[in-house]
Amino acid sequence: MPQRHHVRFPSASADDLAQDEVRFEVVEGDRPVRLRFHDYDEIYRRPGLYEQVFYDRLRCCSPEKVGDLLRQTLTAVGRNVTELRVLDLGAGNGMMGDVLKTSGVARLIGADIIPEAREACYRDRPGLYDDYFVADFTDLPQEEADRIDAWSIDCLTTVAALGFGDIPPEAFLRALDFVKPDGWAAFNIKETFLDNSDRSGFSRCVRRLIASGRLDVHHLERYQHRLSMEGTPLHYYAIVARKRGSGPLSGLATNGDADDA
Ligand SMILES: C[S@@+](CC[C@H](N)C(=O)[O-])C[C@H]1O[C@@H](n2cnc3c(N)ncnc32)[C@H](O)[C@@H]1O
Repeated sequence: MPQRHHVRFPSASADDLAQDEVRFEVVEGDRPVRLRFHDYDEIYRRPGLYEQVFYDRLRCCSPEKVGDLLRQTLTAVGRNVTELRVLDLGAGNGMMGDVLKTSGVARLIGADIIPEAREACYRDRPGLYDDYFVADFTDLPQEEADRIDAWSIDCLTTVAALGFGDIPPEAFLRALDFVKPDGWAAFNIKETFLDNSDRSGFSRCVRRLIASGRLDVHHLERYQHRLSMEGTPLHYYAIVARKRGSGPLSGLATNGDADDA
């Protein structure tokens, strides 16, 4: 039985705050502890808190959604997820890993930038990932890169982790570099990434990947990712795409900017 926490959401409007600035309280004994949504280290330290806030209360459904679309897309091209060797970037405590493992992927590698994510995953979902790297993909040591490369990755998943103070385009592209040519990427991103108001850099990054022919989009779908603290639906796009060509993608996030301001 997962531990339940006494969680209090503020009554004042939080819809104006950036997603990473939203705060809530966990009452421990008689002490309220204030946490931001992006205080992942503190959240993961408390077993069950991440699931309780984001999945039970805010109804996040993105791991299932992205996992389903990945399965459907592979089926449509006569392939099966059981063949996949997946790198799950921004793996956290393993919510997407759970979905992938249940679908029967061949190998499952996790990666996150904070050690608390891996510690929580090992604590709450032991044995889920075949390996789990704590690393900054914008500055990946060669030794780590070699170890990841040895897993012969042919699918990258990134769920609820791109932009908004989380994974920057450079880290996403570096992770995509590990995917073999004709391998897959399945990820989700806030709906505003498709318009020019996007400041995360992902709008430009994804457009470049598509325009350069390096990403072949098989499925793009707008869906309700979760609720805001106020109960307003937050919509994201889920994308399943095939990586084309070889050669590093790192650099595509910053090279040239005349065509797509
Ligand atoms: C909202 S959680 C998502 C976790 C999991 N994918 C899920 O769907 O529940 C975002 C995760 O991205 C991780 N993250 C943030 N910036 C990152 C970066 N630059 N590289 C790798 N992981 C990062 C955070 O530590 C956190 O575990």
